[in-house]
Amino acid sequence: MKTINETDIKNKVVLVRVDYNVPMDGGKITENLRIRASIPTLELLREKGAKKIILISHLGRPEGRDEKLSLKPVAEELKKLISGAYFVNEVSGEKVESAVKALKDGEILLLENLRFFDGEEGNSDEFIKNIIDATGAEIFIQDGFAVLHRAHASTDAVKNFLPVYAGLLVEKEVKNLEKILKNPAGPVLLIIGGAKVEDKEPLIEKFLDKADQIAVGGKIAADGYKASNKKIYVAEDFDENAKGDKLDIGPVSTTKFAGFITDAKTIIWNGLLGYAEDPAYATASTIVAEMMGEKPDAETIICGGDTTGFVENLMKEHENLNYSLVSTGGGAALEFLLGKELPGIKAIRS
Ligand code: 3PG
Repeated sequence: MKTINETDIKNKVVLVRVDYNVPMDGGKITENLRIRASIPTLELLREKGAKKIILISHLGRPEGRDEKLSLKPVAEELKKLISGAYFVNEVSGEKVESAVKALKDGEILLLENLRFFDGEEGNSDEFIKNIIDATGAEIFIQDGFAVLHRAHASTDAVKNFLPVYAGLLVEKEVKNLEKILKNPAGPVLLIIGGAKVEDKEPLIEKFLDKADQIAVGGKIAADGYKASNKKIYVAEDFDENAKGDKLDIGPVSTTKFAGFITDAKTIIWNGLLGYAEDPAYATASTIVAEMMGEKPDAETIICGGDTTGFVENLMKEHENLNYSLVSTGGGAALEFLLGKELPGIKAIRS
């Protein structure tokens, strides 16, 4: 992969794709790991004399412009972590041109949520070209590791217009995951939960060759997912609210998960096991996080925005928790571990 250190940044306008798809609750960011993880690249760009730094990202899965998914609160959080950062609620056109013009040397401008516009997920040349034209970007740094499994305008089409280099986060994530991919000690346990049911089901099937055991909780299990193979265990009991919504896996399933963790030597966990935003339904996720974090005889990998957010918050309360790798990528990390070349990595290599 071509990396940031292999190119001359001095006096250049740099376009940086980050993944600021952070967990939010009622318009508030509940964990800022993905924002913090982008700071080393931004500082390095400043050190190397970048003239202007333009950031692009998505947040959630909006259908058209949706103010609830504006990146404005993310920009406020970014400002707490690095000086000279600004926000504009467009991605191209005159408003962006003026905002870029107003930046002083080394300053940062975060553009609005790319997914407010069809061109992003449509991998549109025209869409990304308009962003490049409005910002005057001369070079592209890919640092949104968590979105590299998507062939979108900001991960793929952009390569048709600008030279693409990997940022420090992408470099680090790829290196760490490659180590695990090369030599996973068995038994390998994959724990899957979360709410993106349609994304996770195919991943479970694809992991059957790699994993010795797959344990499924979260919304997928609550929605009635049926195991297609004896390696797959799907949670069998649930904690429910008064309306009968299944909001956490129950004690029988949690005990099963605990047994798998005890036996495993490589554990990959993606996706919360219940509605852990509410502490009443965070029991199973907390037990799994604690068991993994207190297991020195295994490689323990936490991946995905919500899962890493949850674990990082728990680590603040319990200093003894330790993981081999906390990856900012969810689907991207899992697909990488399957040995697939991700579209966004292919673009860096092109
Ligand atoms: C993620 O959180 O996994 C990435 O930001 C990608 O988001 P997506 O699954 O909505 O494409």
